[in-house]
Amino acid sequence: MKILVVGNGGREHALAWKLSNDSTKPELFCTPGNAGTAELGTNLTLGVTEIDGIKQWCIENQPGLVVIGPEAPLCAGMADVLEAEGFRVFGPNQAAAELEGSKQFAKEIMKAAGVPTSAYETFTDPDAACAYVRERGAPIVIKADGLAAGKGVTVAETIEQAEAAIRDALEGHAFGEAGARVVIEDFLMGEEASILALIDGENVVMLASSQDHKRIFEKDKGPNTGGMGAYSPASIVTEAVLEKVKTEVYDRTLAELKKRGITYKGVLYAGLMVDQGQPSVVEFNCRFGDPEIQAILTRWEGDMLPAINAVIDGTLSEDLIEWKPEHSACVVMVAGGYPGDYSKGDEIQNIGKANAVDDTVVFHAGTALDGDKVVTAGGRVLGITSLGTDLPDALSKAYIAVETISFQKAFYRNDIAHRELTRMH
Ligand code: GLY
Repeated sequence: MKILVVGNGGREHALAWKLSNDSTKPELFCTPGNAGTAELGTNLTLGVTEIDGIKQWCIENQPGLVVIGPEAPLCAGMADVLEAEGFRVFGPNQAAAELEGSKQFAKEIMKAAGVPTSAYETFTDPDAACAYVRERGAPIVIKADGLAAGKGVTVAETIEQAEAAIRDALEGHAFGEAGARVVIEDFLMGEEASILALIDGENVVMLASSQDHKRIFEKDKGPNTGGMGAYSPASIVTEAVLEKVKTEVYDRTLAELKKRGITYKGVLYAGLMVDQGQPSVVEFNCRFGDPEIQAILTRWEGDMLPAINAVIDGTLSEDLIEWKPEHSACVVMVAGGYPGDYSKGDEIQNIGKANAVDDTVVFHAGTALDGDKVVTAGGRVLGITSLGTDLPDALSKAYIAVETISFQKAFYRNDIAHRELTRMH
């Protein structure tokens, strides 16, 4: 069977890696893919939002499955278009993907459903928005309503920072149309955790817990990034927290969507803040988290395809997913300067050696082939992911592999999983 994976990041390399190892040995295509996916199948040249081009490729090549990785094509309705042509698609339809596509929509659903989340208001008028933050006080969170490639969120420590973020979005058009409306939310206390669940329209199966590290520098300092590393499982997500997330977040959200005639099929990622055992939703994403998926998929025992098929067919059940008892750790190597400006086209050395470290996989994110060389092609370059008997063992292997790899101005955090390690001591 042919499988097409849409996307070109670490998430899509991890998906392609898992699917290419499936016992049914599918033939893999990725569009546009990266140097990592090129080793597992055929990279196409179509960009992730070239919906017409991808539809045409599907009509000509008849894949048995299309897995849509990133939020942009999902929010643009790629799943709807391909399903209308009769293709089997993993990924929510456009109406369901609005949970990520519009922060206001996500908040409105959560409020109506009674999902634990912070208080909020939305604004298009900068003066009214600034008056609201002066009334609420800081810290406070300013979010562009639409998709802003991970850049639309400001956690303002002061009223001045909040007002600057509001004016950047509403007057400076820093995020274009995506920032023509802002959602202003109260700041949530606690520790972050990522919970993802597969959903087949009715049934919800939670995936293994993980924790991301969003800030660029150690001790969680500096600007936000797409994610600098992750580990799984995250012990902050106790059985009791997981149960609350299932009933108070997933069941309530899906019931509210259903009331509005929206069916959710695919993966739904709840970014959480957990405070004294009580989870609150910071954001929803309509796709797998990156780098969380690297940490999660390496722990997935056996084939993933039966669970993906069950999501599409509405036959999802817990017994389709089993987790390895090992712990995983993923360390992201980025190009120096990221999340600001950084160079591209720098040769990456020793990926093969790093892959040879026990229980380790080097997932490519921003990489490309230049002849037979692998070069950097994005800010987040690689996600080095290892399994271990416990978290320190997984981290030790991942960092041995990281230190083997070199490229100009390579940068990574040395403290992935620091909160979990502190908890362990
Ligand atoms: N790691 C955060 C995200 O995927 O949105």
